[in-house]
Amino acid sequence: MRYLTFAMAKGRLAKDSLKLFEQIGITCEEMKDKDTRKLIFTNEELGMRFFLAKPSDVPTYVEYGAADIGIVGKDTILEEGRNLYEVMDLGLGKCRMCVCGPESAKELLSRNEIIRVATKYPNIAKDYFTNKKNQTVEIIKLNGSVELAPIVGLSEVIVDIVETGSTLKENGLMVLEEVCPLSARVVVNQVSLRMQHERIRDFLTKLGSVLNN
Ligand code: PRP
Repeated sequence: MRYLTFAMAKGRLAKDSLKLFEQIGITCEEMKDKDTRKLIFTNEELGMRFFLAKPSDVPTYVEYGAADIGIVGKDTILEEGRNLYEVMDLGLGKCRMCVCGPESAKELLSRNEIIRVATKYPNIAKDYFTNKKNQTVEIIKLNGSVELAPIVGLSEVIVDIVETGSTLKENGLMVLEEVCPLSARVVVNQVSLRMQHERIRDFLTKLGSVLNN
């Protein structure tokens, strides 16, 4: 039997998802060894393989069919814009994508002025301002600690993930607009969904039943 291959966004998301998998009898002992340098883990009895990847690479593996199934955040799915099916919301890692900044930036947003937007998510930011708000903006791509940008004058606002809101609060910033809610999703390769339909459906049904409890 062909392996069913899972790509998981490494970090807390993978850990929490693996706990869910255990509840439906999908285990991978090999993966629990913290010291291992192995990249891919196999459960021969189940005919399944699992690997951890950088979150932004998960949709790529799934689009090309190198993984049949991916577990990744909605933020990454939107930003990467790959061809794949998003089939289930795991409800893990709930947070929001927001436009944030100092209170003074509220006016710039409402007056539709040309503003600079710093973000790790240039595609999400561009789509939001261009298509939803019809506002022309300059997008500045950053790779982390995005909250710094309005503080040091790199941009007027940021588009970033807000979970507890404490990073914003501690830096004198606030949520100005909500772009969309986020959480971890199951994505599936388009060909796999047809060719491995029964196995994937069985997996999703079991996963769905633990999520509803
Ligand atoms: C994320 C996000 C915010 C923060 C939000 O950053 O980009 O900065 O978490 O969480 P909060 O609302 O609970 O404070 P992350 O910690 O992933 O690091 P980064 O800033 O380097 O991207």
